[in-house]
This record gives sequence, structure tokens and C-alpha cells, in this order.
Amino acid sequence: VLTLKEAYRGYFDIGVAVSGRALKTDEGAFILQQFNSLTAENAMKPGVLQPKQGVYNWREADSIAAFARRNGLKLRGHTLCWHQQVPAWFFYDANNNLVNKEELLRRLQEHITTVVTRYKDVVYAWDVVNEVISDNPAEVYRNSLWYQIAGEDFISKAFEYAHAADERALLFYNDYNEISATKRAKIITMIKNLQQKGVPIHGVGLQAHWSVTEPVEEQLDATLEDFSKLGLKMHITELDVSVHKKEHNARQRLPTDSDTLYTTEKETAQTVAYKMFFRLFRKYRKYISSVTFWNISDRHSWLDYFPVNKRKDYPLLFDKNLQPKQAYWEVVKFQ
Ligand code: XIL
Repeated sequence: VLTLKEAYRGYFDIGVAVSGRALKTDEGAFILQQFNSLTAENAMKPGVLQPKQGVYNWREADSIAAFARRNGLKLRGHTLCWHQQVPAWFFYDANNNLVNKEELLRRLQEHITTVVTRYKDVVYAWDVVNEVISDNPAEVYRNSLWYQIAGEDFISKAFEYAHAADERALLFYNDYNEISATKRAKIITMIKNLQQKGVPIHGVGLQAHWSVTEPVEEQLDATLEDFSKLGLKMHITELDVSVHKKEHNARQRLPTDSDTLYTTEKETAQTVAYKMFFRLFRKYRKYISSVTFWNISDRHSWLDYFPVNKRKDYPLLFDKNLQPKQAYWEVVKFQ
């Protein structure tokens, strides 16, 4: 059987988001067959790594790093600065008042330096800053505590701290809803400003949390074209293709855990979508060096029961038994 990593040798790495636990099950061996790159789904986020100031919890991140080292897989680091899964202590002092900008940046520097240094030998690329651009067309930056306290400066600082800790690591800005022309324009403007200031940024990460209905081909082509002009590396960092978008927009109530939700029509639409997405990834192979799936198989996806409706999703290339789906064959067989 032709595997994903074999089919795409000479194109780009094929990665997957994992937990430490999954690597110890049948999924560990499966990953070694299909993938050549890993991302920690949660284990390297500040909320897990430094839940209390100065108290680090390395257990899961270390086990993922050890698996990558032992098996010669690449490892993408995710993520150093984000508004979610970040402990409140970053932003508050002992009296529960917000800290000032200087103190916040000091804490960020300490965190980034410690984490990047620890995984220097194995993490070759970091999602340094995640999701700071707003989805609201009326504002540029997300109004997070990072932004409220430090303005936009925390963004360039995060890159500088990461670069100081590991000058060889590739440093990425990562975001979702990149297929929106409005949001994309804001991301691109921000990155160009960083480049102009000489900030060490080497790549843009497109999360690619997509669905059977979007992006359509023209939209994806425009997205990849626009980002490719930055002259940076492009990584597809969190690919999945939801079969439910329409329903959860409509807030319909759906059966909770029934595979009857995943109809033949949906599987066919998903196959068509995956086929087109990978055709375009191949078209932009000069720029795209890594494509990572956000989870291994339909056995478990972060989209299950998220966010509005209580329903499972089926967004990946493998079914619950780790068997290839129709979409898989369209992705590996091309030309
Ligand atoms: C998600 C994880 O998959 C979930 O397990 C967790 O509960 C929330 O975060 N964008 C990102 C990822 O950059 O870190 C998110 O991962 C999915 C959206």
C-alpha cells in the first residue's frame, strides 16, 4: 500500500497532531507507517507546560519529543504565544491586577527561552505566535490580554525571544480562516511589517480547518498565491475537512454519536474536496514544505462535539479503525 509519506516524498512532509498517550497505543505504529512529522496537539502549549509560574510540566511534551527522536520524525513546536490555553498568571500580579507591559514581556521571554531551549535538538519549526489577527473586519488585532497590555509589540518580541533561544529554528506565524480575503490581507500586512522591521520570521502557517463546502478551488488558489508572494515558507499546519459546517451554522440539533450522520453524499463531497486541496498543495510545492493533519483518524477529532452542536465529525483520511477512506486514495494516487 502506498502511504501518505511515500506518496509525497519530494513534495512535502506529512505530519499529524498527537497526544503523548496516542503514541503508546496502536496509533503509534500506525503513525510511523503514514507520517514523517509530528505536532503536539496540546502538550507544548503554555497552559500545559507552565500551569503555574515557574512550575513546568514537561511529561507529555517530553514523551512526544522522545518518540520523534527515537523514530527520526520531524517535530513542529506548537505554540509559544496564544490567547487560548494560556494560564491567567501570565497577565496578573499577586494582587490580581493586570501586570504592565514590561512584566508581561519578561514572563513571555522567560517562557519562550525555557521551552525553545529544551527542545532545540528536535523541534525544527515553531508556531511562535498563534491567531492574533481578528476575524472582525472592523479591527486588525484580536483584543486579547496580550494585546490589551502590550499592544502589537508582543508579536515581534515573541519572534525575537524564540530566535535568541534557537537561531536555527524556523519561526512561523500561524492562523485560521486564512481563506477569508479580508483576514488574509490583515495577516499579510502584519507579516510584511515584521519583515520590514527585520524580525526573524521564516514561515506562515495556514491552519486549514476547512469543510466539504469551503474553500472552493478559486478561493484556495488565491489564498496560496497570496501567501506564496511573501517569500516565506508555507506550512499547512492543522488540516481537517469537516462534514458538518452547514449544520452547525444553522444550529440544528443532530444525533450525538451516530455514524449515520456521515452519509455517502458527505463522504463523496469530502473526497472531492480533499482531492482538490492536495492538487493545489502540489501546485504550490515550491512554497509548501509541510502538510499536517489535525488528528490521526475519525476515531478522535477535536471537532467532535465542538463547538455548537453535540455531534461527531469525520474530518480525516482514516476511519475509526485506521482504515483508509475514499479520500485517502484520491490523495495518494495522482498524475
Ligand atoms: C485544539 C486541540 O485540538 C484541542 O484538543 C484543545 O481542546 C483546543 O485546542 N487552533 C490551534 C490548535 O492552533 O492549537 C487548536 O487545538 C485547534 C485550533
